[in-house]
Amino acid sequence: MPFNIIRNDITKVSADAIVNAANSSLLGGGGVDGAIHHAAGPELLEECRTLGGCQTGDAKLTKGYNLNCRYIIHTVGPVWKGGTHGEEELLRSCYRRSLVLAKENRCESIAFPLISSGVYGYPKALALDAAMAEFKAFLSENDMDITLVIFDRDSFETSSGIVKNIRQYISDAYAKSHEESDRRHMVYGAMPMSGMAMSQAAEASKSKPKGLISGLFRKNAKENSEGSAASAPMLMKEEALYDEREESIEDFLRGRDESFSQALLRLIDERGMTDVETYKKANIDRKLFSKIRSDNGYKPKKQTALAFAIALELDLSETEELLERAGYALSGSIKFDLIVRYFIEHRNYDIFEINETLFAFDQTLIGA
Ligand code: APR
Repeated sequence: MPFNIIRNDITKVSADAIVNAANSSLLGGGGVDGAIHHAAGPELLEECRTLGGCQTGDAKLTKGYNLNCRYIIHTVGPVWKGGTHGEEELLRSCYRRSLVLAKENRCESIAFPLISSGVYGYPKALALDAAMAEFKAFLSENDMDITLVIFDRDSFETSSGIVKNIRQYISDAYAKSHEESDRRHMVYGAMPMSGMAMSQAAEASKSKPKGLISGLFRKNAKENSEGSAASAPMLMKEEALYDEREESIEDFLRGRDESFSQALLRLIDERGMTDVETYKKANIDRKLFSKIRSDNGYKPKKQTALAFAIALELDLSETEELLERAGYALSGSIKFDLIVRYFIEHRNYDIFEINETLFAFDQTLIGA
């Protein structure tokens, strides 16, 4: 996945490059600096001694030694002095310079801590905003797997009030789904259409003129209503549903046999988007995208299918239709689904912001 956020100790992560939040001497310290020097071993310090220090906002590269990486990129973040001493520009420069060094050394993956947000006192939410802005800018022009490694729970704070709004949205949805299940339990209890009736209907459609289906469904609904506590509204609803349709199973199935990949490629064309635009906005790896494009029967994970729905800026019903082609549905009570629903309903398709929020709620991120 081009951009990911994980909770871990960065010295346990494997990537082509691991970034160290160093100080200008480059001779080690506490926090992530101390952890990296400890894990990499004494040779790291020997090489750092030859570098002659590093300016704030700049970055220098050494070998990875005992860490699971080819390179360690040492960057020096700004000390927070209230935000009026160019701290933001210096912090963003740390990310930019580190990414340039990684690219120059043909790294395909890089792991960052949240620079300056510890000892240097940079407010965590602002430090996150600066990091995300630079990741977004870099990934819009380059292919690399960037992982932001968050050491512990309270090292992660988002600045937008969105987390508070979503907490409310989730609790409202939970309340609503409880109300609905109570109501259904009290009033309906209607039996869904039996398997037998469904296969009768499917059988019948092959040989009889259209319209038979509605008859079968209606007959079943009648049986149902006699045999169960279905009330009149449900019966009428079911009848109304099938009378309107008056269609053969062939008509019903026509257009529904479009595969996920076919639907995806159709939607990309309909929106006049390029492949690059699509997979970048979807936080999808270029190689995976070309696999999906060439494999008609490709079965994506739910978070991959959702990532494309976000990239294509689909509304809720279009999203549900695309998910259905991959065999998924958007539930009204699963936290992950509710968070994505919230962003779609508010037409906020910023996949970085969505993933930041999913991470804040300990959910899987979208993309692949
Ligand atoms: N893995 C990942 N992240 C970590 C780890 C770790 N092992 N240890 C700490 N962090 C997180 C902190 O929780 C914080 O969010 O890294 C972020 C940066 O914290 P610091 O390491 O304190 O770095 P910084 O704020 O940039 O201060 C740099 O601290 O350690 C000294 O020598 C260093 O003087 C320099 C200063």
